[in-house]
Amino acid sequence: MALFAETEILTFLFNQFFEYLSIMKCRRRTSIAPNHVTLQRALSKLGFCSRSQATVVIQEGHVSVNGVICTNPQQWIDLVADTIKVDGAKVVRSPYRYVLFYKPVNIITTASDEHGRKTIYEVLPPEYRNLRPVGRLDKDTAGLLLLTNDTQLAETITNPDSHIEKVYEVETYEPLTRKHFQILRNGIEIRIDGKNYYVVPRKISVITPSKFLVTIDEGKNRQVRRMVHAIGATVKMLTRIAIGSLQLGAMNPGDYRELLRDDLLKAIGMNYIYSSGGMCAKYCK
Ligand code: URA
Repeated sequence: MALFAETEILTFLFNQFFEYLSIMKCRRRTSIAPNHVTLQRALSKLGFCSRSQATVVIQEGHVSVNGVICTNPQQWIDLVADTIKVDGAKVVRSPYRYVLFYKPVNIITTASDEHGRKTIYEVLPPEYRNLRPVGRLDKDTAGLLLLTNDTQLAETITNPDSHIEKVYEVETYEPLTRKHFQILRNGIEIRIDGKNYYVVPRKISVITPSKFLVTIDEGKNRQVRRMVHAIGATVKMLTRIAIGSLQLGAMNPGDYRELLRDDLLKAIGMNYIYSSGGMCAKYCK
């Protein structure tokens, strides 16, 4: 009887010890150093999925830290020292970069120009040489331009079905009347390469008779200039001031800043849908 009790105590102590080791491996930290983030944040920081997606993946028991399954999205981990795996596959930092650039005027949105005009890459630091613009802005248009090497996301953003809203500030040479703005609001026909398109802006906000904001959710070639031209006016200055909830804010022409994928996705109202093993992961609204 005494032997039975001793064995039970020993087993209990052994279990406690192993549990303690597990906890130490998948440890909860209280101090916050630069590499210390919650497990949920780590998955998004590493570019694996969005934070909300991470919560589900973690709670469903797909994620291990140093070999121990963690189901707590708020678990503190060390991004550098700890090994995070999803369904047994190590999560490594996303090689993708996302840059928000305030393109100045008189700069073209291509890698090289046969006419020797200044390109965006001559304004941006050399480390961004491998990033591609997401869509383009005309030489004479200033404003927000995204750059990335994440081709899947770039294609999703530029896909007309994504309907991501872009806001342009338009200054015209001529003062416009109420009637002009009404025509624009109702939608207008523009001609591109011999084909007619009927385009309806999402919103027109008048600032002064010769300055207004137009929100569009498509990106036809020189669309805003063509719309202004179609009402018989001419653009003096065109600036893209917002893409989704990303704003120029206090940025100056030539300024740029890197974005976390999670923050970019949130700003454009998109999600990264994770499916087991990451095999069918995709971006969607
Ligand atoms: N519409 C235009 O006309 N030009 C741009 O660069 C972007 C939108």
